[in-house]
Amino acid sequence: MKRSTTLENCIRRGRNVGMAVVAAVVMIAAWTANATAQQAGLPEIIIADFESEGYGDWKVEGTAFGKGPARGALPGQMAVEGFSGSGLVNSFLEGDASVGTLESPQFVIQRRYITFLIGGGMNPEQLALQLLIDGKVVRQATGPNDRSGGSEALVRESWEVNKYKGNKATIRILDQATGGWGHINVDHIVQTDKKPAGLIRDAKREFVVNARYLNIPIKNGAAKRMVTLIVDGQDVVRNEIELADGTADWWAPMDVSAWTGKTITLNVDKLPEESSALAAIEQSDTLKDADNLYAEPLRGQFHFSPRRGWNNDPNGMVYYNGEYHLFFQHNPYGWGWGNMHWGHAVSKDMVHWQELGDKLLPDSMGTMFSGGAVVDWKNTSGFGKDGKPPLVLFYTAAGSSFVQGIAWSTDGRTFTKYAGNPVLQQITGGNRDPKVIWHEPSGKWVMVLYVEVNGVHTIHFFTSPNLRDWTFTSKTDGFFECPEFFELPVDGNSAQAKWVLLAASSEYQIGTFDGTKFTPESPKVPGHRGRGFYAAQTFSDVPDGRRLMMGWFQTETRGMPFNQSMSIPLELRLGSTENGPRLTFAPAGELESLRTKRHSITTRSLKKGDSNPLDSVRAELIELRAEFEPGTAKEIVFLVRGATIVYDVQKQELVVNGHRAAAPLSNGRQGLTIFCDRNGLEVFASGGLCYVPMPFIPKADDLSVGITVPEGEIRNFSAVAHELRSAWTSR
Ligand code: FRU
Repeated sequence: MKRSTTLENCIRRGRNVGMAVVAAVVMIAAWTANATAQQAGLPEIIIADFESEGYGDWKVEGTAFGKGPARGALPGQMAVEGFSGSGLVNSFLEGDASVGTLESPQFVIQRRYITFLIGGGMNPEQLALQLLIDGKVVRQATGPNDRSGGSEALVRESWEVNKYKGNKATIRILDQATGGWGHINVDHIVQTDKKPAGLIRDAKREFVVNARYLNIPIKNGAAKRMVTLIVDGQDVVRNEIELADGTADWWAPMDVSAWTGKTITLNVDKLPEESSALAAIEQSDTLKDADNLYAEPLRGQFHFSPRRGWNNDPNGMVYYNGEYHLFFQHNPYGWGWGNMHWGHAVSKDMVHWQELGDKLLPDSMGTMFSGGAVVDWKNTSGFGKDGKPPLVLFYTAAGSSFVQGIAWSTDGRTFTKYAGNPVLQQITGGNRDPKVIWHEPSGKWVMVLYVEVNGVHTIHFFTSPNLRDWTFTSKTDGFFECPEFFELPVDGNSAQAKWVLLAASSEYQIGTFDGTKFTPESPKVPGHRGRGFYAAQTFSDVPDGRRLMMGWFQTETRGMPFNQSMSIPLELRLGSTENGPRLTFAPAGELESLRTKRHSITTRSLKKGDSNPLDSVRAELIELRAEFEPGTAKEIVFLVRGATIVYDVQKQELVVNGHRAAAPLSNGRQGLTIFCDRNGLEVFASGGLCYVPMPFIPKADDLSVGITVPEGEIRNFSAVAHELRSAWTSR
């Protein structure tokens, strides 16, 4: 400090005393070099980096470590992160049950510290990295995980070994553990004189709650820390958070309003000494850095996305007390998947959403995976109050076992988990995603649940009189995750209704249902025909009986404090085709409320060389509708903000940014509807038989729409382009 002050003074006076400045700079340079040398000492010595095929001179015993280093995760293991280079020691070989040891050749301790990367299970006796001198363990470390969940990330730790300098030593890696987290990961063992950043275990900060949120600094890709919220000595919730030790990429709000006036504690399992993460947390009634909330460059303007964090599946979709409720798989504290909470938003029209905050938080049974919701009109569950029917949520608690739980509300705002949870014990590991419907003819509730049985993906059917007690009735094979089950009239004729069973990919089967068993009458047919659309669900209890769906729209939004979104609301129907009834998808009529300026075309034909009939359009958010008979044209090309949507007449296919989808003509005509937002396109053709969602980021400065016919001529052509307003600013 003193020296830099002197230097600053020298420089400030520099103009007058040029030589003095030069002398001072030389002096400082020498001092700095000297200090660095003192700090860093002699060069590092790598003891082992585990980058080769085999373990070299290391002695291997048992089966846990295999013949050589792993290249990351082993079969059946979560993603392993944080190792150096491409190899590491990973004793998950053949799962947690395998045991063994790995011992280094002798080396001489020549530096002050030994640093290493370590991960896996926490069990100092059975899972350890040990430093041995004369056969005695003088230092040891174990992994960070002592319960289900957790992370396979390796973290840097170190031993101070100055007093052993000059001694001969060996390193032993031990895996004698066989249960959950019965493995250890190690990499990059190095001798160094540079003081490694120390880690503080169980770093804590107390807050007297005086605002709604704790704004927590997040650095994408930083080491995940286990952050526990403690109130009255009890762990309320634990989350794995990529805390920013320095500058934050973004700030995640943790709603602590339930404890206003109380003292709460955040405990972080490990934090580098120099981390400013805990100190940087701010109490505030608003989100930090939210001046441009909902106006961020990659924020879908009519696709729902959470204010902060990650979303995947839509959950608990239901109409209740005059509002559509959308819950969703939410990581409030990360840009990627994790910490599954149920986020919550409400809307009067499925277009303008208000996010209300997280409603189901991880608990001792696990994190909150997907599920559905119903209104229990007859109060069969007994959760109703003062004549108000309860809204009941069904979710999977994903912990050491996967069980099904319920929660209810009578105001659509506060939710209570049922004290008798779980309502369904684990059938097989990973069973999940309960969706419940009321079956009027049998007077029972029906649940569909994804269950893997001996490697086969199945949907199990259960019935219940009261939403609490469930009886298995049947199963159907061939569907994976997030089942949906509903009845729809064929061609609008309720006397000819059919049942539709679909799952996460939106592939579906049509059939009949007798209240206990689904009997398929069709092969499995694709639902959507695009990309990045998954785990869709339909709203329960919609008053006008429409079957309205939204899916997880996998729109990656790098650089934003949020990631992913939902599709637009879709209306599903069954229409007859020559192959039998098939689903059609259409944008829900409510989206019309977003229309502003209209550009319509009266031209009846369009041919090669004609000027672009939509030349006047300059818009960011667009709904384009066009109809035509292909005539002599081979292709009709639509350009929407840089996306190409081509109708290939010969193949009767739609090609959206190179992705092909079957789109048959109907009575010799084709009709296309294209929605374009900042994060994606959704294209509809062939009367809704062809729905092509497509994540896509238009170029910010390309606001044009074009229609061209490169060859031949289309007939009976009409088109309308609607400029759309943002659903966020028009709330
Ligand atoms: C589908 C899914 C579900 C699960 C959820 C977890 O995307 O894997 O099966 O419940 O995500 O977030």
